[in-house]
Amino acid sequence: MRMRAAVLEEFGQPLEVQEVELADPKPGEVLVRIVNCGVCHTDMYTASGADPSGYAPAVLGHEGAGVVEKVGDGVTSVQAGDHVVTLFSPQCGECVHCVDPRTNLCMAIRAEQNLGHLPDGTVRLSRPGSGEDIRHFMGTSTFAEYTVMPEIALAKIDPEAPLDRACLFACGLSTGLGAAMNTAKVTEGSTCVVFGAGMVGLGAVAGCRLSGAERIICVDLSDDRLALAEGQGATDLFKADENTVERLLEMSEGGFGYDFTFEATGLVNVMAQAVETARMAWGLCTIAGVAGKGETLDVIPRWLITGRRVAGSSFGGVKGREGVPKLVDLYMQGEIDVDPFISHRITLDEVNKGFDLMHAQDGIRSVIEF
Ligand code: CU
Ligand code: ZN
Repeated sequence: MRMRAAVLEEFGQPLEVQEVELADPKPGEVLVRIVNCGVCHTDMYTASGADPSGYAPAVLGHEGAGVVEKVGDGVTSVQAGDHVVTLFSPQCGECVHCVDPRTNLCMAIRAEQNLGHLPDGTVRLSRPGSGEDIRHFMGTSTFAEYTVMPEIALAKIDPEAPLDRACLFACGLSTGLGAAMNTAKVTEGSTCVVFGAGMVGLGAVAGCRLSGAERIICVDLSDDRLALAEGQGATDLFKADENTVERLLEMSEGGFGYDFTFEATGLVNVMAQAVETARMAWGLCTIAGVAGKGETLDVIPRWLITGRRVAGSSFGGVKGREGVPKLVDLYMQGEIDVDPFISHRITLDEVNKGFDLMHAQDGIRSVIEF
């Protein structure tokens, strides 16, 4: 079929919205009509060419939500008409990691997905006319009217859930919520600090609140974003400056630091602050931000010897097919206020404007409406 999609043709250049050919789903694959898609930093980062593992031409986009149109042979868990959230982090249910409750890092299709292929090593996207291959970004390619994805990378959600909000659970929001609820397992009555009030940090604030934290300090440079953090349940709003660590430690009980800290900026110096402000003796620092390739985290070993721990969290430790529908249900029950995250609504043709807004740090999320 012919459809419109935003193609990364050349690194460092704007995406080009154009007609693309999409082949039928093969066995184990599903054709999804995309209804909404968020524009995320990872898309922009890849488009910039800063990521050495990036590839082009490719259809970008990974925060999609839509409706199943057609399924390939052998697909049993979804059918035409189902509402789904796309998962760049799939859940095959069978690999060494899927059967272990400690992780969500499914290994089933990793190698091919990293190359921009579907699991069988081929692509369904091509250029009309020449037939040249176009690759699938993150296994999702949701800056498009339609996508073909593996069944194991689709989370079936409540059909009543509005898809413009559900799409945010495909990446940033689940990452933040899960960092607090799954990775850190924030406990009732605990003290928490969240560094960064973007999508992931705000999700972490909400996750701390849902876990019964008593104190939730959100740290950011922007008053607007901090105001959003208050809406998600932050008890203290903290404007970062050069004395962030000292001030935070002073504010903590006994000056010892905080039970749980979260890093959601991707900046390695902030990661170090998050480790240092975790409580001596038992504080757990969870790193959810993605640093640039090659950057390293400077941690003084004494921080660790004296009892602080560091954990990493990818997609919030959420096993997507099971976990995303549950998070969407929490939203439907009124437990998570998703509306404030949608700052701009744009069309597919305006996808580059979504990047510009992100670059200008204007708002939290632009959502594409198809
Ligand atoms: Cu993302
Ligand atoms: Zn797996």
